[in-house]
Parts: sequence; C-alpha cells; structure tokens
Amino acid sequence: MAFSEAPEAATAESPEAGGKVLVKSYGCQMNVYDATRMADLLGREGYAETAEEADADLVILNTCHIRERAAEKIYSELGKLALEKRARAAEGRDMKIVVAGCVAQAEGEEVLKRQRAVDLVVGPQSYHRLPDLLKQAKQGRRLTDTEFDVDEKFDALPQPSRAQIRARGVSAFVTVQEGCDKFCSFCVVPYTRGAEVSRPVADILAETQRLVDAGVREITLIGQNVNAYRGPDDKGQEWSLARLLAHLGEMEGIARLRYTTSHPVDMAQDLIDAHESIGKLMPYVHLPVQSGSDRVLKAMNRRHTGADFLDIIRRLRLARPDVAMSSDFIVGFPGETDADFADTLALIREVGFAASFSFKYSPRPGTPGAERTDQIDEEVKRERLAALQSLLEEQRQAFNAATVGKTIEVLFEKPGRHEGQIAGKSPYMQPVHVSGPADMIGETARVAIVAAGSNSLAGRLVGKGEEAKA
Ligand code: 5AD
Ligand code: SF4
Repeated sequence: MAFSEAPEAATAESPEAGGKVLVKSYGCQMNVYDATRMADLLGREGYAETAEEADADLVILNTCHIRERAAEKIYSELGKLALEKRARAAEGRDMKIVVAGCVAQAEGEEVLKRQRAVDLVVGPQSYHRLPDLLKQAKQGRRLTDTEFDVDEKFDALPQPSRAQIRARGVSAFVTVQEGCDKFCSFCVVPYTRGAEVSRPVADILAETQRLVDAGVREITLIGQNVNAYRGPDDKGQEWSLARLLAHLGEMEGIARLRYTTSHPVDMAQDLIDAHESIGKLMPYVHLPVQSGSDRVLKAMNRRHTGADFLDIIRRLRLARPDVAMSSDFIVGFPGETDADFADTLALIREVGFAASFSFKYSPRPGTPGAERTDQIDEEVKRERLAALQSLLEEQRQAFNAATVGKTIEVLFEKPGRHEGQIAGKSPYMQPVHVSGPADMIGETARVAIVAAGSNSLAGRLVGKGEEAKA
C-alpha cells in the first residue's frame, strides 16, 4: 500500500456556514478515501474546506497506527495544534481538534488523556456520526466514538457533488472492502479496522457511475484486502473482485482500472485472468510479500511461501506479459537471521520490482510479534533496510530507464510544473510530463518516452490514446 508519512489534504468546495475545516490524512489510501468522505459529510453541514491550518476552525487528523513512528508523529502534530489552540483562546477564538483514523481506534480515550487539547476521538467506522459529535463538542463535551458499524457508515455518508468530484481530479478511489481477517503477526489492521466486510455491488456501481459522470477517468478499487472482495449483488449472489472489475470494464467513460491492496492468498485465478481479458485493467499489481524467507513468512502468519508468490507472478506474466510488480517488505521481524534476509534479497532479484515500500519491523502493542523475545537489534534492522532499499532503488531506476525509447499510454491528470506542460501517469504509476495543451487533461494519449529522471519520465505526444476504447 502506498503509505505516506507526510499528510495529504482532502479538497472540496462547500458553503462556509459551519466554518472552515482542514482534514489531514496520514498513511494508506483508505485514509485518503475516508478523508474525502469526511469532507463531503462536513460540506453538507456547511463547512468549507481549507488547506491552511491558520484558517481552520476545525482540524481533523486522520491518523495511521501501522508503525510506531506513524503514531508518534500524530502526538507531535497534536502538540503543535494545542499551542495554536491556546493562542487562539487568548484571542477569544475557538479551534476544535478531532483525532480520527487508526490511532483513534487503537488508543481511544487514551488520546484524550494524553493530549488535553483534543476535543473528539472518532474511529474509522464511526466518522459518519461526526456532525452529531461536533454539536456535542461545541457544548464542551470531550467524546470518544470507536463503535464498529460499516453498513451504517456507508448508508449515512452523503455522495459528493459534481463540483467536489471535479476538484479532486481525474483519478478516484472507491472503497469496495474494509477490514482484515488475516492476522499477520506484525499487523494492527485487524484490530483497528475490524473484520473483512465487502460493500454490496450496487453501492459500488452507483458510486463509480457518479464519479465517472462528473469526469473521473481512472478508478482504483481499494480495500485492506481488496482481492478478498465478496460482495452481494441484488439477487444475493456473491461477486468476486474479478467479476466486479469485468463489469466496471464495460462502463463507458472509464479509461483505467486499478485495485489495491491485495494479499497473495486471495490472488485467485479469475483475478489473474482478468489482467488478460480486461483491457482497461492496468498491468501493474501491488502485492505485498513482506519477506522472501519461508521461515519468517510462517512466523508472520502469512499463509504463503516465497514459491507461492513467485508462482502468482509467473501466472500474472502469462496472462499479461507487460505486467509490472510492486510490493511491501518488512526487515527485522523477530528471529530473522542473516540467511532469512538473504532469501528476501534473492526473491527481490528473481522478481525485479518496478516500485516498493519497505519498512523496519515495528513492534505494535497487542500483536503477537510484539510479544516475542527474539526482537532484532535496531542497528541490524537499519543495515538490512539500507541494503534492501538500495537493491529496490536500483530495480526502480532500471525499470524507469527501460521505458526510455518506448511509446506508452499516459492518462493526463494536471498541468505540468512548467508553462505549456501537462502531467499524467503511465500504466505503471510513473509520473510523465510532456509539452501539450491543457485540454488534454482527463484524456489518455500515446507518449514516446525520451528521458527518465529519478522520479518522473519526460515524453513527447505521438497520438491519441487507445485505452479508452479498450
Ligand atoms: N512494522 C513494520 N511494517 C509494518 N507493516 C505493517 N505492520 C508493520 C509493522 N508492525 C507494513 C507491511 C504492510 C504495510 C502496509 O505496512 O509491509 O504491507
Ligand atoms: Fe495487516 Fe496482514 Fe491484514 Fe495486510 S493482510 S492488513 S498486513 S494483517
């Protein structure tokens, strides 16, 4: 999953009756999605969005609990907000502070105790009750709501307006599934996001249609275990993710489909085949493997081996020869030996990844990994991470360099950094910029790649895109 430790601000346009709100999102795409839904909800209550803390009457931190560093960052951010709140109080102005997301779920009332300036703590399955909670907060109550009710949440959330959708650009997330039943022994997600729940097919189709009608061209289906999707249709029949993707592949207006994040165990053959049969499904799969050592994978409770993972990639490449892979890795899981780590490097060499996310193991309270007595030294973790990241970076650069001289499809998303430029993404999520007219934003086009920088590709427009027709 694409994790950002830097916050991303959700954007929306709305009237100003309720004051101004800033929603800062940390962590995974699910949090980015939730942040936009909170913005939609508060927009309906009359809140206007701002990207500036200084303007905000309400600041919501949509937090991540996946690693200790992510959680600690929230408390330092809260410390700064507390100072701002105090300074405003001295001027007779108020600022409400809400902690949402996974830190809220995991720590609940502790957050209120640890930081007195926090007004509300609201979990990822209860933020639809924010309007009511805010009313109570305005009367001076400090509350925590971490109840789980996924169905109630989706029913209660308003759909965004066309203007809100347009302001967010041509690529959008749609949540199809939440939660995780896998209980990998390092991970807090099953505790913070709860059990796997799939949204009904009709809800997903309606939300997607609305986005596409407002001009969205790329849909990324998201879920903590997206490929475990099993949602009911109107007849009560369960659809797999592959079936959902095939249906969306027929929806007019969609140029690109993606899905994230998958688990190897749920990488069913129909999903692999979908990469051959659905032209709009991008040839890029994010599939976390975590480790290349079977011993460590077993200790992590991953329920797959390194060989299973390689076999999935073999079948994906059979279905779609140009498929590129990205993954997540953890180094220094308790008990990991030099030989285990060497197995991870060997697996990476065998696959060749286009991009990756890699982390030092961080013991999380309440997870089985944290109880183990054979924790790895911080210094060893640091060395292993450096070695792993240097190999992954080499592969990423090689992958980017290999696109030079090729002609690829780009979906243009926004104006480029320089006058007369437009910027978009390759099928492999690489940022690409070309000289071209702004009216091509929202379109796909064929681009000859002429150079690879360290983080983006430069190209030349050579023709109209094919993807939209696929
Ligand atoms: N320590 C380090 N990395 C972790 N991840 C999940 N839990 C931990 C942890 N305790 C990583 C995994 C997962 C990604 C989202 O975050 O690699 O795939
Ligand atoms: Fe965490 Fe494992 Fe579930 Fe992914 S599959 S969310 S790593 S428990």
